[in-house]
Amino acid sequence: MKNWVLNFPVVLFFVRRIIGLVDEEEKMGMLELLKKRRSVRQFEQQEIEQEKKDYLIECMLRSFSSRSLNPWEFILVDQPQVIKELAKAKPHGATFAKDAPLVIVVCADPAKCDVWIEDTAVATTLIHLAAESAGLGSCWIQIRKREYDENKTAGEYIREQLDIPGKYVVETMVAVGYPKAKNPGHPKESLPFGKIHLNSFGG
Ligand SMILES: Cc1cc2nc3c(=O)[nH]c(=O)nc-3n(C[C@H](O)[C@H](O)[C@H](O)COP(=O)(O)O)c2cc1C
Repeated sequence: MKNWVLNFPVVLFFVRRIIGLVDEEEKMGMLELLKKRRSVRQFEQQEIEQEKKDYLIECMLRSFSSRSLNPWEFILVDQPQVIKELAKAKPHGATFAKDAPLVIVVCADPAKCDVWIEDTAVATTLIHLAAESAGLGSCWIQIRKREYDENKTAGEYIREQLDIPGKYVVETMVAVGYPKAKNPGHPKESLPFGKIHLNSFGG
C-alpha cells in the first residue's frame, strides 16, 4: 500500500499520457508564459543572480539558426557605467535601458549567413521568453537601421563602446531586469484573429 502511494505521481503521469492530458499541459506552459509577457521598461535596482544569468546564456545558445551556422554573438553588459552609455545609442526607445541591471547586445557576422537578421531575431525572441520564464522583465531595443545622430548609426556607436570588431553588425539590445512596473498581458479578445487565414489569404 505504502509503495503504491509513493508511486502515485508516476501512475498518474502515465494515466494522463494515455488519455492525452500531458500534451495539453505542456502547451499550456507556453501559453501561460505568452499571456503574461509584456515589454518591461522600468526595472528594480536589483542585481540578477548569476544562476539566472547562466540560465539566460544557455537559452540564448540554444537558439536555432539557418543551417545551424549560428552567426550571432552575445555581449552581456552588467557594468552600470557602460549600460548608461549604451542607453544613449539612439534618441528614442533606448534611454530607459540606463536603469537596467543587464543589457544583452546581439550582433552577428553577415558573411556567415545570408539570413543573419532572422537568426538574430530568433535569438532575441528566445532571450525575451527566457527572461519572462525566469521572473524577469525585458524589452527589445532595435539597433540595426537606427541612428545615433546624423553622422553615426546606433550600431557604430555601440561598436565603439564595446570594441566590437568591424565584421559584426549590431542587430538588437535587450534590457533585462526585475520589473518595477509591468502592464497586464494582452486579453484574448484583443488578439487579431482576422490575421489568421485558412488555406488561402482571406480564407
Ligand atoms: C522588432 C522590434 C523592435 C522593437 N524596438 C523597440 C525599441 O527600440 N524600443 C522599445 O522601447 N521597444 C521596442 N520594441 C518593443 C515593442 O514596442 C513592443 O513589443 C510592442 O509595443 C508590444 O508591446 P508588448 O511587448 O508589451 O506586448 C520592439 C519590438 C520589436 C519586436
